[in-house]
Amino acid sequence: MRTADIPQAEGTMGQTVVVVGGGLMGHGIAEVFAASGHRVTVCDRDTGVRASVLERIADAAALRGDDPSLVLGRVRVTGALSSAVEDACMAVEAVAENLAVKRAVFGELGRLTGPATILATNTSALPVREVGSAAAHPERVIGTHFWNPPHLVPLVEVVQSELTSDNTVLRTMEILRAAGKSPVHVRRDIPGFIGNRLQHALKREAIALVAQGVCDAETIDRVVKEGFGPRMSVLGPMEQSDLVGLDLTLAIHETLMPSLNRGAEPDALLVRLVRQGKTGISAGEGFRRWTPDSAGEVRRRLSEFLARRVAADYEPPEGASGLAGDTPGEQ
Ligand code: NAI
Repeated sequence: MRTADIPQAEGTMGQTVVVVGGGLMGHGIAEVFAASGHRVTVCDRDTGVRASVLERIADAAALRGDDPSLVLGRVRVTGALSSAVEDACMAVEAVAENLAVKRAVFGELGRLTGPATILATNTSALPVREVGSAAAHPERVIGTHFWNPPHLVPLVEVVQSELTSDNTVLRTMEILRAAGKSPVHVRRDIPGFIGNRLQHALKREAIALVAQGVCDAETIDRVVKEGFGPRMSVLGPMEQSDLVGLDLTLAIHETLMPSLNRGAEPDALLVRLVRQGKTGISAGEGFRRWTPDSAGEVRRRLSEFLARRVAADYEPPEGASGLAGDTPGEQ
């Protein structure tokens, strides 16, 4: 996404977006807003994180093909939330995944901002309602679930809790769209939102197939990457079902559903590997074995693939508003 190409959202563009937490997610979120024309204040309590965040934002900008000096010219770094939030149209919280820590941040954000400032949490799994009820005017609190790396993955799940107003949803979607993201509206504050529910439903079956000895972990990865994986970035599962015909989908479900894994607990294989310290790349072994070279290769492959997609100027499909309710079957 080129820095200059992004449409200006009337009313909010140029206004400050505060990003609380400048870690893995926060620095990328900051880059996205700064590249689209917002002034951005990054607030982190850790001096080491504050010292490195501008360099990490510049690297993210370079990877996306944005102008790093233009982006950095719009970013300010601070350790004090009180000096960060003045005039902010939106604050995005990306601190540790801990309810007490997040509630403390929202309590403070609620006191320091007026009721018009949108307060967004990037929580992966905590209920947005429980995070946001700590803030004054919780109707302006919303989930904005960016995917890692946030400067390269277009999707943001916009999560409406029972406390979030419809106006907050509309304004958040508008700000994100103007920043070049592809927001979707999640109408209920449910665990895993949409993307992680889909992703982990697939992982549950994948782990069960390995545990039952049907195939090894490498085969699972090959089946996805060389089978239905590549087409999924242009054809979602609902479109694909319509393409092959719902009668065929129904016939397959009648045969398949009884034998799919329906475990309500994490699989024993996953539990055993974690207990043995085989936690994945960082440990040198998880479902698969890793060397420093193969670990570096897989990280490089992912980052280069996503960067190429951004450089190709990925645009959401024409007419995709991201707001729920425009397809049959939804109410
Ligand atoms: P991280 O550990 O890299 O960064 C968190 C940052 O918050 C740290 O720099 C820390 O110093 C700072 N921080 C903690 N408490 C603070 C406070 N009270 N005030 C100011 N700064 C504070 O964590 P990461 O991975 O960036 O995750 C942030 C949030 O995003 C979490 O809720 C996580 O679940 C969510 N998330 C993470 C994804 C991932 O792949 N890492 C993907 C999607 C969401």
